[in-house]
Amino acid sequence: MSDIRSSYTEQQNFFGGHSPGALIRRFGSPLYVYNEKILRLRAAEMRDLVCLPSFKACFSAKANANPHLLRIIRSEGLLVDSMSPGELLAVQSSGFTKEEIIYVCNNVSGEELIRAEKGSRVVSVDSLAQLERFGCCVRPGAQRGARVMVRINPGIGAGHHQKVVTAGKETKFGINPEDFTTVLEICKKYSLELAGVNQHVGSLFMQADAFLQAAERLLDLVENTGYAGGLEIIDFGGGFGIPYHKYEREERLDLADLGEKFTGLLRNWSRKNNYPGIFIIEPGRYVSAESGLLLGTVQAVKNNGAVRFACTDVGFNILPRPMLYDAFHDVEIYREADGPGETPEAGRTPMAQTIAGNICESGDILARGRVLPEIRVKDILGFMDTGAYCYAMSSAYNQRVRPAEILIEADGAVKLIRRRETEEDLLRLVPCHTY
Ligand code: LLP
Repeated sequence: MSDIRSSYTEQQNFFGGHSPGALIRRFGSPLYVYNEKILRLRAAEMRDLVCLPSFKACFSAKANANPHLLRIIRSEGLLVDSMSPGELLAVQSSGFTKEEIIYVCNNVSGEELIRAEKGSRVVSVDSLAQLERFGCCVRPGAQRGARVMVRINPGIGAGHHQKVVTAGKETKFGINPEDFTTVLEICKKYSLELAGVNQHVGSLFMQADAFLQAAERLLDLVENTGYAGGLEIIDFGGGFGIPYHKYEREERLDLADLGEKFTGLLRNWSRKNNYPGIFIIEPGRYVSAESGLLLGTVQAVKNNGAVRFACTDVGFNILPRPMLYDAFHDVEIYREADGPGETPEAGRTPMAQTIAGNICESGDILARGRVLPEIRVKDILGFMDTGAYCYAMSSAYNQRVRPAEILIEADGAVKLIRRRETEEDLLRLVPCHTY
């Protein structure tokens, strides 16, 4: 194998001694590959962000809900947050107990709230209307109503794209801090116990200022209402970013600095307020993104006008982030064999190339105008940092099946953790079909 651009994964021993070509021959292309050691490392970093026994990291299962990966994350001591019945089932089947599950939802039915309350330690609702619904539906008429958490909109947002900023006046999320008195009134009306408050400023910050500022605001709010002694959970959400520009050596989020400032803030506040509960963060991307890599195969190369296209079997149905958010995933190139009579150095001239998928839309572009060594037919490409919000957001658009997911275990063994979909799977839900 002659690897054209692969120093990052080589340095990490990402494939545990297996070659991308051999993995594709065995499991098919495209293929999601996860690395257990990296997943454990990132999970542990979040778990240890704050040095206080009252601090817990809670993996946000929306980033990746593969039960095998969830099981590993649980074994690192993280809790989990889920936001739908499907995620609840995935986390339960990975061994998370009721006490370890936080349910953070928005705009759901009464039936879902009932199910969520049964399956989790606490449910967070994100509007006064949903709090009313929770009161009406969950254990109505009980002498002592259920415990509930409310999501506050701290008015400060952060994130890599407008679509993932989840706080501030223009987003759909959370309850205005000014409505906190009404929250208490609704809780009283239905005998609900207000067990916690939560917030989430948005996804992917590389500087921690907005996160820390919003955390301080949430703590101020709780302090000003005089409610600190009555809460069990204060949850600051996720959003911790990862460096996607690996080959440009983008700097990592400074966790040491963030951890120190955050620890100081939480320690002082809990002493001052005699806070008996726990503090939570809900990282998704930080824990799982870097442990995942998506392999695909180049099926054609061509020039359309001035643009050179490398055309792959990776459509936006299985890697939606570039299409949705213009997101950047770095790309590695693996080549099984050099051309006849070529030296390994030949055919590596960097040039601007656009990497496309196999979906019938012109927006099906995974990387635009990237200066990379010349990509050829049959090359295998590795889309890096695809362990969060990639398989989780995939679809069967164009009736293309979703790929398999495999895990490179800590000892280098390979494990199939989700089989590749089949065409029959796509028709499974259709009654009375013949095929
Ligand atoms: N907690 C709540 C309530 C959330 O809504 C989210 C993410 C998280 C925690 C975890 O955020 P993280 O630590 O992963 O940034 N699909 C987008 C990201 C959407 C995030 C949605 N909420 C992407 O691919 O960038």
